[in-house]
Amino acid sequence: MCGIIGFTGNMPAKDVILNGLERLEYRGYDSAGMALLEDGGITLFKRTGKVADLRTLCANDNSPCTCGIGHTRWATHGGVTDVNAHPHLAGNVVLIHNGIIENYRQLIVEYGLADKLVSETDSEVVAQLLNIFYDGDPIAAIKKTIKLLSGAFALCIMFKDIPGKIFAIRNVSPMIATSCEQGSIIASDLTAVIAFTKEYFVVPEYHILTLSDDGIVVEDLKGNVTKPEILSVNWDITDAQKGGYPFFMLKEIFEQPDAIRNTIAPRIENGLPDFTEDGINDDIFAHCKRICVVACGTAMHAGMVGKNLIEEKLRIPVQVEIASEFRYKNPIIDENTLTIVLSQSGETIDTLEALKLAKTFGSKVLSIVNVKGSTIARESDYVLYTHAGPEIAVASTKAYTVQVAAMYLIACRIGLVKALMTEGEARQFISKLQSAPNIIEETLKHADTIKRVANQIKLSPDAFYIGRGLDYVMGLEAALKLKEISYVHAEAYAAGELKHGTIALITENVPVIAFATQEKVYEKVVSNIREVKARGAYVVLVTMDEAVNDPNICDQHIRVPRVSSEFTAFATAVILQMLAYYTSEAKGLDVDKPRNLAKSVTVE
Ligand code: G6P
Repeated sequence: MCGIIGFTGNMPAKDVILNGLERLEYRGYDSAGMALLEDGGITLFKRTGKVADLRTLCANDNSPCTCGIGHTRWATHGGVTDVNAHPHLAGNVVLIHNGIIENYRQLIVEYGLADKLVSETDSEVVAQLLNIFYDGDPIAAIKKTIKLLSGAFALCIMFKDIPGKIFAIRNVSPMIATSCEQGSIIASDLTAVIAFTKEYFVVPEYHILTLSDDGIVVEDLKGNVTKPEILSVNWDITDAQKGGYPFFMLKEIFEQPDAIRNTIAPRIENGLPDFTEDGINDDIFAHCKRICVVACGTAMHAGMVGKNLIEEKLRIPVQVEIASEFRYKNPIIDENTLTIVLSQSGETIDTLEALKLAKTFGSKVLSIVNVKGSTIARESDYVLYTHAGPEIAVASTKAYTVQVAAMYLIACRIGLVKALMTEGEARQFISKLQSAPNIIEETLKHADTIKRVANQIKLSPDAFYIGRGLDYVMGLEAALKLKEISYVHAEAYAAGELKHGTIALITENVPVIAFATQEKVYEKVVSNIREVKARGAYVVLVTMDEAVNDPNICDQHIRVPRVSSEFTAFATAVILQMLAYYTSEAKGLDVDKPRNLAKSVTVE
């Protein structure tokens, strides 16, 4: 949440910061701001609205200034107002902050700051403290200040009388940095710096960084200078651009076949799953008696798809836990439980804390993460990186299907290691998994039918997804997608459960999307469809059956390719994503930046 960037170098900072903020905007977009450090002064621009509004605000500023910081906000403390937008200025100090300072009220009282504060934010308290402690030595002031803070923070700080330098420090909240030809850059994530370099380092926690135009010094709190490991990425700036699509989400939906190929191909050796290159030891599979999956949002839904497969095929119990609930539980896990953590960003705070808790119970943690070097990846015992490339739209699409593919690979490896699958069965399974990209390509051709359905859904305040087994799990993700980007209230129901309450909400023209891809319960779902149709619902039937044209069953039919039951997930995923996308587009909404949401949830 919140995107931060700092630049000091040999070119005007304003453009680097505004361009970087545009790429970071998916982290939060209710207000934006920038501070430029000129000789002896700070110029501040900040306002509510998007980065485009900030650009307009400073359009007439032609400052050649080469040092500055910028912020795009997702409000936590204090409403969405110009004054609460970052950067925050206090005397000699200006700063931007991502995170939450939990003890800020106490600090206001202890240091008598109430009269000095102009905003309602926890962040301004940090600026005030730094200003109190600053007597010409920035490092000393930072050390004194952070000793007082509890909570998560990534801070970039400039001092009026120290031209050309940015200081930074973090605890928990993510921050990466890089030195390149044009200067030194620090940011919440790589998307903001990828235009300059593919090499970067993760800012170590509780280390102070001093950025200047000729490099970055990293020192711990005792003053020892350290050299963090340099990482590199295998994607570039074009991957973080829309490439002709109206929205990132649509581009990312269409990128799914390649994302899956890139994720599974390096893990298949001689037709079987193989994690040697990832350094994942088979012992964790051999010893596990149970599996606990922990994640948030869409990543959790990918975990549920994995549970469905593992329990069906391997009969190993899998519990799927919402990370924000799990972390405050007394979880029933032990050294015989394998914890699988799923996260696109690798930074979701609840998922990270749940991971740490699982480790304290002796459970080994295998994480499935998309962002290389992210905190969750670093804290895990083992990591399986998905290769989806950068996912920019707030609503997750390609990260979800690659997580499902990764879960399928893991399930197959467990099956082999525990001799729950023969080599022949595993080979067959992997060959089907290799067809997942084709299943998606085939399904993407239904865009026109899906647009017609979207035009109907957009007219309704509510929509319902029904299904059984895997189809019910897919319905949960479908309902989440529709809610988050089209603001249509949606719920997923196990089709057999409808009669226990929800059917009371089915009236004339209420959209009911029935996922009926699971052959063993197909007829049961059809009976449930007849029940809602009889009450006037507008029914969309998603099924492998080609012969459905009975108007008594459905108003629209979307056919998915005929594949074995666990692989319909890839087709259904694309349909549910396109349904949400085209409904949002038909309503004229900003698909990539839905209201109140942010992509990377780094606060509780
Ligand atoms: C936010 C995003 C979702 C994502 C969830 C978990 O809510 O909007 O798209 O599924 O966080 O994020 P993670 O990065 O841990 O997968």
